[in-house]
Amino acid sequence: MTEHLPPGPRGHRLRGNLPRYEADRLGFLRRCQEEYGDFCSFDGNTVVVSDPATVHEILGKTNAEYLAEGTLFAGGDDLDEAAERAAVWMAARRKGSRGFNRRVATAHAERMIGMLDEQLGRAGSQTVDVQPLMARVSGCMVADYCFSGEGSELVETIEAQVAAAIPIMSAARVLPRWMPAARNRRFAAARRRTMAAIGGIVDRRRARPAPESPRDLLDVLLAARDPELTQHQIEEVLRVTLLASYGVPGTTLAWIVRELSFRPDIQARVQDEATAWDGRETPPELAELPYTEALVKEILRAYTPTWLMGRTVREEVRVGSWTLAPGRQIMFCPYLIHRDPRWWDEPEKIDPGRWLGEKAPHARHAYFPFGAGPRTCLGTHLGMLQLTLVTSWLARRYAIAVETPGTVPASPAALLSPAGLRASFAVREHEDAGFVSAGGR
Ligand code: HEM
Repeated sequence: MTEHLPPGPRGHRLRGNLPRYEADRLGFLRRCQEEYGDFCSFDGNTVVVSDPATVHEILGKTNAEYLAEGTLFAGGDDLDEAAERAAVWMAARRKGSRGFNRRVATAHAERMIGMLDEQLGRAGSQTVDVQPLMARVSGCMVADYCFSGEGSELVETIEAQVAAAIPIMSAARVLPRWMPAARNRRFAAARRRTMAAIGGIVDRRRARPAPESPRDLLDVLLAARDPELTQHQIEEVLRVTLLASYGVPGTTLAWIVRELSFRPDIQARVQDEATAWDGRETPPELAELPYTEALVKEILRAYTPTWLMGRTVREEVRVGSWTLAPGRQIMFCPYLIHRDPRWWDEPEKIDPGRWLGEKAPHARHAYFPFGAGPRTCLGTHLGMLQLTLVTSWLARRYAIAVETPGTVPASPAALLSPAGLRASFAVREHEDAGFVSAGGR
């Protein structure tokens, strides 16, 4: 079949559409959709898809007709090598996913509030940059979920690897072949350090007797039988978990901090619900915090941290009425789909209440902050649990004062974050009796 790409902006003779995209990423993608519709060719290599049903179909066919792996690190467009990496990961993912169970998540819930209190306690009542602070809080939480207390030694190593990956990831979709070698070398060195640190913790844990019931993901992975996970699979599950989640819940928390402070009506309802913590020693269940959970869903809709996702075409495919050749990149922007008035009522309004009705507040497949299909987020339940409990606890325990005046621009880099948001977190004086975290004592 002959390739048949959808139309799109022509762009500059040499630099294509890159300068316009870089100047205003969200605006550029929105204008492309307005002008060319739900299928638009970006640069002769990349197709932007904005139709929810087609996006859902593409996500569902990942690992078969499409790859989640970029071809970036394979030294060229080596699709077979990328498919092989996908197969190795999927084998580890299938076995490792049993570690993402509710028991481990609940055991971790109490410790994670302690981590929040500890990090906010270090900041005192100073005004701080919210995004990096919350990224650190969520990084500590995921490390704890993986390794309990031993995870704390790893957080800085992961931060360094993410920092090395960001320039590559943010350029990856548009600059796949121009990537300067120095960036790749820095990334490879950071990755080696991460793997050595993870391997060290796994080896130390193996040498100790197994606990009666698993405290964290590593305990579950080591206890798996029929068949056991190999050392490589264990390390891969841990590495991907730490990296795929780094900063993602933290970015959402930063947006939540902003919303709680700008919308007293929302804050008051979250605080009302936070009485669920009164007189108890363990955190409440999600079912006790329905409005807070609805706020989290609404923030994940309106400020989707993973605002841009992509796939690589593995075999020639039909996408809508177009034919794409192997190696083509497909991009989709959950942020735009989550704000499209064709699929949502009043999408620009932040309204947690839309999630409290009987029916889903959106057209089919038009909400996917955690992705979909075989590569959907492994931490969906854990992420919702972390975000809901932390939001409730923030509103209950802290008086948040946001310093940044006016609106805070959404900055679409590797994640969509509130650029320059600064705030202070003072412990409220009239705190009710009830749950006390280890970090807040
Ligand atoms: C706000 C919270 C979170 C959001 C919005 C989120 C979103 C996502 C998205 C969009 C993907 C890519 C899915 C795809 O390509 O189809 C992903 C992948 C992944 N996430 Fe999350 N995530 C969150 C939290 C977490 C947490 C807390 C963990 C684990 C502790 C986690 C573990 C993973 C893993 C392991 C993958 C890779 C799955 C694969 O490639 O097979 N995520 N996440």
